[in-house]
Amino acid sequence: MKEIEVNLTINHKKVSRTVPANWRLLDLLREGFSLTGCKEGCGVGECGACTVLLAGEPVNSCLVLVGQAEGKEVLTIEGLTAANKEEELHPLQQAFIEKGAIQCGYCTPGMVLSSLALLRRNAEPGVKEIKEAISGNLCRCTGYKQIVEAVQLAADWLKEDGDYIE
Ligand code: FES
Ligand code: FES
Repeated sequence: MKEIEVNLTINHKKVSRTVPANWRLLDLLREGFSLTGCKEGCGVGECGACTVLLAGEPVNSCLVLVGQAEGKEVLTIEGLTAANKEEELHPLQQAFIEKGAIQCGYCTPGMVLSSLALLRRNAEPGVKEIKEAISGNLCRCTGYKQIVEAVQLAADWLKEDGDYIE
């Protein structure tokens, strides 16, 4: 199998790795860096369990070849936690817990990252915007109501303390 070298930034650190050219970003994160917060659900771009932020935008990492991430910045759920200055959970994570928006948790990293991308561009999203932002993330457990409420709660907290958002 042909290999390629990829150079990118993962969770605020510049990294290089030589990997099989047919690896997806999901493989690089999980197998190359043990960042297992991004999950493989469907593997074909339908469930959103593998969502990460690539250059600030949510992507299905199962659909991105490693070469497409060259030179770009990737944020996974592990980076969100580590970037918090006080080593607390990010307000979005805390709000998901508070509102009971996590059951099995398989969808949660992707949901949180899609929600983060929304809050970065819209600090006061309505229910419609929140539903649109998470429309690519499937949840089999919660029924979505608690997830929408959690994003609204996090938005309220972030309005009070804007320093929290990265
Ligand atoms: S595993 Fe990537 S969208 Fe389902
Ligand atoms: S909490 Fe189980 S899939 Fe969402």
